[in-house]
Amino acid sequence: MPALRRPPGPKGHFLLGNLPELGSDILELFASCAREHGEVAFLSLAGWPAFVLSNPEHIEQVLVTDHKNFIKHTFFWRHVRGIFGNGLLTSEGDFWLRQRRLAQPSFHRDRIAAYGDVMVSYTEHALDQWRDGDTLDVHHELMRLTLLIVAKVLFDADVAQEVETIGGALDDATKEIASRFRRPFRIPDAIPIPGNLRYKRAVRRLDGVVHRIIDQHRDHDGRGDLLGMLMQARDDEGRPMTTEQLRDEAITILLAGHETTAIALSWTCYLLSKHPAVAENIHTELTEVLGSTRAPAVADLPRLRFTEMVVMEAMRLYPPAYALGREAVNDCRIAGYEVAAGTSIFISPWVVHRDARWFDRPEEFLPERWAGNAAQRLPRFAYFPFGGGPRICIGNRFAMMEAVLLLACIVRRFRLVLDDEKGVALFPTITLRPANGIRMTVRRRRSV
Ligand code: HEM
Repeated sequence: MPALRRPPGPKGHFLLGNLPELGSDILELFASCAREHGEVAFLSLAGWPAFVLSNPEHIEQVLVTDHKNFIKHTFFWRHVRGIFGNGLLTSEGDFWLRQRRLAQPSFHRDRIAAYGDVMVSYTEHALDQWRDGDTLDVHHELMRLTLLIVAKVLFDADVAQEVETIGGALDDATKEIASRFRRPFRIPDAIPIPGNLRYKRAVRRLDGVVHRIIDQHRDHDGRGDLLGMLMQARDDEGRPMTTEQLRDEAITILLAGHETTAIALSWTCYLLSKHPAVAENIHTELTEVLGSTRAPAVADLPRLRFTEMVVMEAMRLYPPAYALGREAVNDCRIAGYEVAAGTSIFISPWVVHRDARWFDRPEEFLPERWAGNAAQRLPRFAYFPFGGGPRICIGNRFAMMEAVLLLACIVRRFRLVLDDEKGVALFPTITLRPANGIRMTVRRRRSV
């Protein structure tokens, strides 16, 4: 069959194409592509072709079946390379595969089960500081907590003194990345405009923390955690990883390993405050499984099924990684359309997770939709908060375990009351952050 030449898509600016909408409202742009133009839509990004895919079969083709023909998307990733360097998230090919194999054992099911105690004890300690009636930015609290946890369990590091440095640097870098998305042209990093300078300062602050962690780790040879394994690894010629590569891997794990989980939990707390009956159902489950005095543990997870369903449903509506980007290496076809080498591919869990073909009443928060084997009945790429194929999130089990344990700890002890619904807004950059945090009043439950 001859290839179809170009899928339908939204009209764009004569020069910039759809780049302005990509920068100003990326979620609505992707959603409108699916709504108005179908499962394969075409965008022009200042002359560069891009496809937006929203059919699970086409997504599977890109992420799994033909994954060798699609690399991580340069438009997305060139903006964050200054932070992540050539770490697991951004590297490609044989180099990526080797690094992934080195890191994989730290994410083995048995290994992560051992992290559960730290997750719970750090959370219980954080909750001990919450007073009845306090008003908190729950997102800020969760970012702090998940950062402390990932640093402890994977690097055996205590970053309590550096939480604000990391958080501030990440905020500054994220704001700059957001403005880069909005810019129709690229300003090289070397040009000293305020945004570039701010970005560089942010990266320097993150570097400082990561180098401190690496140096301290070197002083205690032989630790069996992820950083220790990366340090002990040798290539075919017997050489260890360079300090720069260690820095890239460590910063990737530190940032990817806390921000997304904190975001998943922040939106979960937000949804629970709007659906207090669901929060009460979690509490009932917790009381049945844990009684009234005990904090949760990894062994309880199989019985915390409703709590898990709540996390899954929150990540359906607010997937922390709201879009995945790829770029075609060679010419190929998707859904009969010709895809030229260099074409960008956008895949948005935000859009697919709200598709009425797979989810009844898709805009509603209904954790019970995940009961039984509902997930298995869906096409593989109708629900994919952790991506899929060889580049699937290495921390997916870690993240689910952490999210369920932390949520259980919180709901066991507190009710969360949203302070100002109007203040809650989405800030989609690399992840789906809440724009201004999420301010909530915490109410201590009487029984705990
Ligand atoms: C709810 C929490 C999380 C979500 C929603 C999430 C989502 C994702 C997604 C969608 C990808 C694939 C990106 C792509 O294909 O372009 C990814 C990759 C990755 N994630 Fe996660 N993630 C989470 C938690 C974590 C945790 C806890 C860690 C580490 C401790 C982690 C480390 C990574 C790394 C290193 C990659 C790159 C993997 C590779 O390309 O080999 N993530 N994540």
